[in-house]
Amino acid sequence: MENLASASSTSLDNSSSDFAILDVRNISVSFGGVRPVQDVSFKISENSFTSVIGPNGAGKTSLFNLISGMNKVSAGEIIFRQQAIQAIHPHKIAQKGLIRTFQGAKIIKRLTVAENLMMAVQGNPGDNLSGFLRIRARRDFEAQARAEAMRRLDQVGLTKFADEYAGILSGGQRKLLDLSRALMAKPSLLLLDEPFAGVNPTLVEKLIMVLGELRKEKSMTFLLIEHDLETVMNISDRVIVMADGKIIADGLPGAIYENEVVIDAYLGSRRKEIK
Ligand SMILES: Nc1ncnc2c1ncn2[C@@H]1O[C@H](COP(=O)(O)OP(=O)(O)O)[C@@H](O)[C@H]1O
Ligand SMILES: [Mg+2]
Repeated sequence: MENLASASSTSLDNSSSDFAILDVRNISVSFGGVRPVQDVSFKISENSFTSVIGPNGAGKTSLFNLISGMNKVSAGEIIFRQQAIQAIHPHKIAQKGLIRTFQGAKIIKRLTVAENLMMAVQGNPGDNLSGFLRIRARRDFEAQARAEAMRRLDQVGLTKFADEYAGILSGGQRKLLDLSRALMAKPSLLLLDEPFAGVNPTLVEKLIMVLGELRKEKSMTFLLIEHDLETVMNISDRVIVMADGKIIADGLPGAIYENEVVIDAYLGSRRKEIK
Protein backbone atom coordinates (compact mmCIF):
# COMPACT_ATOMS: atom_id res chain seq x y z
CA MET A 1 0.00 0.00 0.00
CA GLU A 2 1.21 3.46 -0.77
CA ASN A 3 1.27 5.58 2.35
CA LEU A 4 0.47 9.19 1.62
CA ALA A 5 0.19 10.12 5.23
CA SER A 6 3.84 10.61 6.12
CA ALA A 7 3.68 14.42 5.99
CA SER A 8 0.94 14.50 8.57
CA SER A 9 1.49 11.31 10.48
CA THR A 10 0.39 12.79 13.78
CA SER A 11 -3.16 13.25 12.54
CA LEU A 12 -3.37 9.88 10.83
CA ASP A 13 -1.36 7.16 12.51
CA ASN A 14 -3.20 7.36 15.82
CA SER A 15 -0.10 6.45 17.73
CA SER A 16 0.06 9.81 19.51
CA SER A 17 -2.66 11.28 21.70
CA ASP A 18 -5.44 10.33 19.24
CA PHE A 19 -7.57 7.50 20.51
CA ALA A 20 -8.21 4.81 17.90
CA ILE A 21 -11.91 4.06 18.28
CA LEU A 22 -11.55 1.35 15.62
CA ASP A 23 -8.51 -0.79 14.90
CA VAL A 24 -8.86 -3.18 11.97
CA ARG A 25 -6.01 -5.68 11.98
CA ASN A 26 -5.22 -7.76 8.91
CA ILE A 27 -8.78 -8.81 8.20
CA SER A 28 -9.78 -11.03 5.30
CA VAL A 29 -12.94 -12.78 4.21
CA SER A 30 -13.46 -15.43 1.58
CA PHE A 31 -16.59 -16.97 0.14
CA GLY A 32 -15.58 -20.06 -1.81
CA GLY A 33 -12.98 -18.79 -4.23
CA VAL A 34 -13.99 -15.11 -3.91
CA ARG A 35 -11.93 -12.94 -1.56
CA PRO A 36 -13.71 -9.57 -1.28
CA VAL A 37 -11.45 -8.32 1.59
CA GLN A 38 -7.79 -9.31 1.72
CA ASP A 39 -5.49 -8.50 4.61
CA VAL A 40 -6.94 -5.04 5.28
CA SER A 41 -5.61 -2.97 8.20
CA PHE A 42 -6.29 0.59 9.37
CA LYS A 43 -7.01 2.58 12.51
CA ILE A 44 -9.67 5.25 12.88
CA SER A 45 -9.20 8.18 15.28
CA GLU A 46 -12.07 9.13 17.49
CA ASN A 47 -14.22 12.00 16.10
CA SER A 48 -12.62 11.81 12.66
CA PHE A 49 -14.36 11.60 9.29
CA THR A 50 -12.90 8.98 6.96
CA SER A 51 -14.21 8.06 3.54
CA VAL A 52 -13.61 4.69 1.92
CA ILE A 53 -13.69 5.02 -1.85
CA GLY A 54 -13.12 2.58 -4.67
CA PRO A 55 -14.72 1.24 -7.82
CA ASN A 56 -17.69 -1.12 -7.83
CA GLY A 57 -16.76 -4.53 -6.51
CA ALA A 58 -13.69 -3.20 -4.65
CA GLY A 59 -14.86 -4.78 -1.40
CA LYS A 60 -16.16 -1.68 0.39
CA THR A 61 -19.53 -3.10 1.45
CA SER A 62 -17.85 -6.40 2.33
CA LEU A 63 -15.53 -4.45 4.64
CA PHE A 64 -18.56 -2.87 6.38
CA ASN A 65 -20.19 -6.30 6.63
CA LEU A 66 -17.15 -7.49 8.57
CA ILE A 67 -16.86 -4.44 10.84
CA SER A 68 -20.57 -4.53 11.69
CA GLY A 69 -20.42 -8.29 12.35
CA MET A 70 -22.85 -9.28 9.59
CA ASN A 71 -20.17 -11.48 8.08
CA LYS A 72 -17.41 -13.04 10.11
CA VAL A 73 -13.75 -12.56 9.24
CA SER A 74 -11.80 -15.51 7.87
CA ALA A 75 -8.70 -14.00 9.48
CA GLY A 76 -7.72 -10.95 11.49
CA GLU A 77 -9.10 -8.90 14.34
CA ILE A 78 -11.42 -5.92 14.71
CA ILE A 79 -10.98 -3.84 17.85
CA PHE A 80 -13.75 -1.36 18.70
CA ARG A 81 -13.17 0.81 21.75
CA GLN A 82 -10.42 -1.54 22.87
CA GLN A 83 -12.53 -4.66 22.64
CA ALA A 84 -12.25 -7.43 20.02
CA ILE A 85 -15.61 -7.61 18.23
CA GLN A 86 -14.93 -9.93 15.29
CA ALA A 87 -16.77 -12.82 16.95
CA ILE A 88 -19.64 -10.80 18.42
CA HIS A 89 -23.26 -10.86 17.18
CA PRO A 90 -24.18 -7.79 15.04
CA HIS A 91 -26.92 -6.69 17.47
CA LYS A 92 -24.45 -6.67 20.33
CA ILE A 93 -22.01 -4.65 18.25
CA ALA A 94 -24.77 -2.12 17.50
CA GLN A 95 -25.57 -1.89 21.22
CA LYS A 96 -21.95 -0.95 21.83
CA GLY A 97 -22.47 2.12 19.61
CA LEU A 98 -21.22 0.87 16.25
CA ILE A 99 -24.11 1.56 13.87
CA ARG A 100 -24.27 1.10 10.11
CA THR A 101 -26.56 2.02 7.25
CA PHE A 102 -27.09 -0.07 4.12
CA GLN A 103 -26.54 0.71 0.48
CA GLY A 104 -30.30 0.64 -0.13
CA ALA A 105 -32.07 2.64 2.61
CA LYS A 106 -34.10 0.16 4.65
CA ILE A 107 -37.14 2.11 5.76
CA ILE A 108 -40.46 0.60 6.81
CA LYS A 109 -43.02 2.00 4.38
CA ARG A 110 -46.11 1.21 6.46
CA LEU A 111 -44.88 3.06 9.52
CA THR A 112 -44.88 6.82 9.67
CA VAL A 113 -41.67 8.74 9.20
CA ALA A 114 -41.51 9.52 12.94
CA GLU A 115 -42.25 5.89 13.86
CA ASN A 116 -39.39 4.72 11.63
CA LEU A 117 -37.09 6.84 13.78
CA MET A 118 -38.61 5.94 17.13
CA MET A 119 -38.06 2.25 16.37
CA ALA A 120 -34.33 2.82 16.28
CA VAL A 121 -34.05 3.95 19.89
CA GLN A 122 -32.26 1.32 21.90
CA GLY A 123 -33.53 0.12 25.27
CA ASN A 124 -36.41 -1.75 26.93
CA PRO A 125 -37.77 0.60 29.57
CA GLY A 126 -39.76 -0.77 32.44
CA ASP A 127 -38.99 -4.42 31.73
CA ASN A 128 -38.04 -4.89 35.37
CA LEU A 129 -41.18 -3.08 36.58
CA SER A 130 -44.79 -4.18 36.72
CA GLY A 131 -48.26 -2.68 36.32
CA PHE A 132 -48.64 1.07 36.28
CA LEU A 133 -44.92 1.78 36.78
CA ARG A 134 -44.17 -0.20 33.68
CA ILE A 135 -46.80 1.62 31.64
CA ARG A 136 -45.47 4.96 32.83
CA ALA A 137 -41.85 4.05 32.06
CA ARG A 138 -42.85 3.04 28.54
CA ARG A 139 -44.90 6.20 28.03
CA ASP A 140 -42.01 8.42 29.14
CA PHE A 141 -39.63 6.47 26.93
CA GLU A 142 -41.93 6.92 23.95
CA ALA A 143 -42.36 10.63 24.58
CA GLN A 144 -38.59 11.07 24.70
CA ALA A 145 -38.14 9.00 21.54
CA ARG A 146 -40.76 11.13 19.77
CA ALA A 147 -39.05 14.36 20.87
CA GLU A 148 -35.70 13.05 19.67
CA ALA A 149 -37.27 11.92 16.37
CA MET A 150 -38.70 15.41 15.82
CA ARG A 151 -35.29 16.98 16.47
CA ARG A 152 -33.70 14.65 13.92
CA LEU A 153 -36.42 15.34 11.34
CA ASP A 154 -35.94 19.07 11.75
CA GLN A 155 -32.22 18.62 11.18
CA VAL A 156 -32.77 17.00 7.75
CA GLY A 157 -35.79 19.11 6.75
CA LEU A 158 -38.38 16.31 6.94
CA THR A 159 -40.52 17.68 9.79
CA LYS A 160 -43.59 18.11 7.60
CA PHE A 161 -43.56 14.37 6.81
CA ALA A 162 -43.38 13.23 10.46
CA ASP A 163 -46.86 11.67 10.51
CA GLU A 164 -47.01 10.55 6.88
CA TYR A 165 -46.28 7.00 5.86
CA ALA A 166 -42.58 6.62 5.04
CA GLY A 167 -43.59 4.97 1.75
CA ILE A 168 -44.45 8.37 0.25
CA LEU A 169 -40.87 9.66 0.58
CA SER A 170 -38.67 9.99 -2.51
CA GLY A 171 -35.46 7.94 -2.79
CA GLY A 172 -33.39 10.90 -1.62
CA GLN A 173 -35.70 11.65 1.31
CA ARG A 174 -35.45 8.00 2.35
CA LYS A 175 -31.69 8.36 2.51
CA LEU A 176 -32.10 11.40 4.78
CA LEU A 177 -34.48 9.37 6.94
CA ASP A 178 -32.03 6.48 6.98
CA LEU A 179 -29.28 8.77 8.24
CA SER A 180 -31.60 10.21 10.91
CA ARG A 181 -32.56 6.72 12.00
CA ALA A 182 -28.93 5.70 12.40
CA LEU A 183 -28.40 8.81 14.52
CA MET A 184 -31.33 7.91 16.78
CA ALA A 185 -29.27 5.00 18.11
CA LYS A 186 -26.67 7.54 19.32
CA PRO A 187 -23.70 5.87 17.61
CA SER A 188 -20.15 6.57 18.64
CA LEU A 189 -19.02 5.13 15.30
CA LEU A 190 -21.31 5.49 12.30
CA LEU A 191 -20.71 3.50 9.10
CA LEU A 192 -22.55 4.95 6.10
CA ASP A 193 -22.70 2.83 2.94
CA GLU A 194 -23.11 5.06 -0.12
CA PRO A 195 -25.53 7.55 1.46
CA PHE A 196 -25.45 9.72 -1.69
CA ALA A 197 -26.15 7.02 -4.27
CA GLY A 198 -29.34 7.68 -6.25
CA VAL A 199 -29.95 10.96 -4.43
CA ASN A 200 -30.58 14.13 -6.47
CA PRO A 201 -27.90 16.87 -6.30
CA THR A 202 -29.97 19.17 -4.07
CA LEU A 203 -30.48 16.46 -1.47
CA VAL A 204 -26.82 15.37 -1.75
CA GLU A 205 -25.91 18.94 -0.79
CA LYS A 206 -28.36 18.77 2.10
CA LEU A 207 -26.92 15.45 3.28
CA ILE A 208 -23.37 16.76 3.08
CA MET A 209 -24.39 19.86 5.02
CA VAL A 210 -26.01 17.75 7.76
CA LEU A 211 -22.94 15.51 7.97
CA GLY A 212 -20.73 18.60 8.16
CA GLU A 213 -22.78 19.94 11.08
CA LEU A 214 -22.64 16.60 12.89
CA ARG A 215 -18.92 16.42 12.32
CA LYS A 216 -18.45 19.81 13.97
CA GLU A 217 -20.15 18.49 17.09
CA LYS A 218 -17.17 16.14 17.56
CA SER A 219 -19.31 13.57 19.31
CA MET A 220 -19.23 10.89 16.67
CA THR A 221 -16.78 9.15 14.36
CA PHE A 222 -17.68 8.63 10.71
CA LEU A 223 -16.65 6.01 8.19
CA LEU A 224 -18.38 6.60 4.87
CA ILE A 225 -18.37 4.59 1.65
CA GLU A 226 -18.66 6.44 -1.62
CA HIS A 227 -17.57 5.57 -5.13
CA ASP A 228 -16.92 9.15 -6.21
CA LEU A 229 -13.90 10.83 -4.63
CA GLU A 230 -14.96 14.39 -5.47
CA THR A 231 -18.20 14.06 -3.53
CA VAL A 232 -16.31 13.40 -0.29
CA MET A 233 -13.22 15.57 -0.85
CA ASN A 234 -14.30 18.44 1.36
CA ILE A 235 -16.01 16.54 4.11
CA SER A 236 -13.28 13.96 4.79
CA ASP A 237 -10.27 14.25 7.10
CA ARG A 238 -8.87 11.21 5.39
CA VAL A 239 -9.57 8.96 2.43
CA ILE A 240 -8.89 5.22 2.18
CA VAL A 241 -8.92 3.81 -1.34
CA MET A 242 -9.84 0.18 -1.98
CA ALA A 243 -9.50 -1.86 -5.15
CA ASP A 244 -9.75 -5.63 -5.58
CA GLY A 245 -10.22 -6.25 -1.86
CA LYS A 246 -7.13 -4.33 -0.78
CA ILE A 247 -6.23 -0.84 0.37
CA ILE A 248 -4.25 0.80 -2.41
CA ALA A 249 -3.88 4.25 -0.84
CA ASP A 250 -4.61 5.98 2.46
CA GLY A 251 -4.11 9.65 3.22
CA LEU A 252 -5.32 13.23 3.13
CA PRO A 253 -8.03 13.93 0.51
CA GLY A 254 -5.82 16.31 -1.49
CA ALA A 255 -2.98 13.81 -1.72
CA ILE A 256 -5.36 11.01 -2.73
CA TYR A 257 -6.86 13.23 -5.42
CA GLU A 258 -3.48 13.61 -7.09
CA ASN A 259 -2.21 10.08 -6.52
CA GLU A 260 -1.29 8.29 -9.74
CA VAL A 261 -2.12 4.82 -8.41
CA VAL A 262 -5.62 6.02 -7.49
CA ILE A 263 -6.14 7.83 -10.77
CA ASP A 264 -5.16 4.66 -12.66
CA ALA A 265 -7.43 2.39 -10.60
CA TYR A 266 -10.30 4.83 -10.97
CA LEU A 267 -10.06 5.80 -14.59
CA GLY A 268 -9.57 2.12 -15.44
CA SER A 269 -12.74 1.06 -13.67
CA ARG A 270 -14.76 4.07 -14.88
CA ARG A 271 -13.89 3.26 -18.48
CA LYS A 272 -15.15 -0.27 -17.89
CA GLU A 273 -18.39 1.04 -16.39
CA ILE A 274 -19.00 3.41 -19.31
CA LYS A 275 -18.58 0.63 -21.93
N1 LIG B 1 -21.49 -13.19 0.34
C1 LIG B 1 -20.75 -13.14 -0.77
N2 LIG B 1 -20.54 -14.25 -1.51
C2 LIG B 1 -19.79 -14.21 -2.64
N3 LIG B 1 -19.22 -13.11 -3.13
C3 LIG B 1 -19.40 -11.97 -2.45
C4 LIG B 1 -20.16 -11.91 -1.24
N4 LIG B 1 -20.17 -10.65 -0.80
C5 LIG B 1 -19.44 -9.93 -1.69
N5 LIG B 1 -18.98 -10.72 -2.69
C6 LIG B 1 -18.14 -10.29 -3.82
O1 LIG B 1 -17.12 -9.48 -3.34
C7 LIG B 1 -16.79 -8.44 -4.25
C8 LIG B 1 -16.85 -7.11 -3.55
O2 LIG B 1 -18.20 -6.73 -3.37
P1 LIG B 1 -18.64 -5.48 -2.50
O3 LIG B 1 -18.03 -5.58 -1.17
O4 LIG B 1 -20.12 -5.42 -2.54
O5 LIG B 1 -17.98 -4.28 -3.32
P2 LIG B 1 -18.29 -2.72 -3.29
O6 LIG B 1 -19.16 -2.41 -2.13
O7 LIG B 1 -16.92 -2.09 -3.20
O8 LIG B 1 -18.93 -2.39 -4.61
C9 LIG B 1 -17.74 -8.58 -5.41
O9 LIG B 1 -17.08 -9.28 -6.45
C10 LIG B 1 -18.87 -9.41 -4.82
O10 LIG B 1 -19.53 -10.16 -5.80
MG1 LIG C 1 -21.05 -1.53 -2.01
